[in-house]
Parts: sequence; structure tokens; C-alpha cells
Amino acid sequence: SSPFPIISQEEVTKHRSLEDGVWVTYKGGVYDITEFVAMHPGGAKILLAAGGSLEPFWSLYAVHNQEHVLEILSEYKVGVL
Ligand code: HEM
Repeated sequence: SSPFPIISQEEVTKHRSLEDGVWVTYKGGVYDITEFVAMHPGGAKILLAAGGSLEPFWSLYAVHNQEHVLEILSEYKVGVL
């Protein structure tokens, strides 16, 4: 079984600002990326995904389709949907 707690979509949606924390989902995982926002090579665009799914944005910006990007994301995992 997953070592991560189950988190509802409703809970994720509450975290869409630097104040409340920035959470996103990707393939069923939940990630608290608050600390990464300032380090993002693509700047504040990352906040467009806050509280929701990364998939539509990563489809648009194929630069994320690399192993090292998934490695970065994995460091911020806090739960599963
Ligand atoms: C670039 C990570 C979310 C837009 C990058 C790069 C990384 C990264 C590592 C550099 C890739 C490279 O050049 O090798 C992430 C992570 C995200 C995230 C971990 C989520 C947790 C987003 C979102 C958007 C976005 C949601 C758009 C709405 C961009 C753009 C670039 C970029 C436009 C290209 C920047 C440039 O080279 O000028 N991202 N990203 N990213 N990202 Fe993200």
C-alpha cells in the first residue's frame, strides 16, 4: 500500500497561493510545491496549476517531458488522491 495519505481533490483546491501553500496533482499524486515556486525555471506560470492538475500545462509545455523534471516533482509528494 502507499506510504502517503489519501488527500481529497477538495483539500488540494484549498492550496492555490503562496500564503495557503501551493499544491498540485499529477497522475494521482499530490504535491506541495510551495518551496519550488521560486526556483521554477518557467517563473510564475507555475501558479496557473495551483490547486489543480499539472497535466494540461505539461501537455502544452513539453519541456517537462523529461526524467529530471519528474525527479524534482517526486521530492514534493505529500499524498495520493
Ligand atoms: C521549465 C519544472 C510546472 C511552465 C521548467 C523546467 C523545469 C520545470 C525543471 C526546466 C526544464 C529544462 O529546461 O530542462 C516544473 C515543475 C512544475 C512545473 C516541477 C510543477 C511542479 C509548470 C507549469 C507551467 C510551466 C504549471 C505553465 C503553466 C514552464 C515553462 C518553462 C518551464 C514555460 C520553460 C522556461 C524557459 O526555458 O524559458 N519547468 N514546472 N511549468 N516550465 Fe515548468
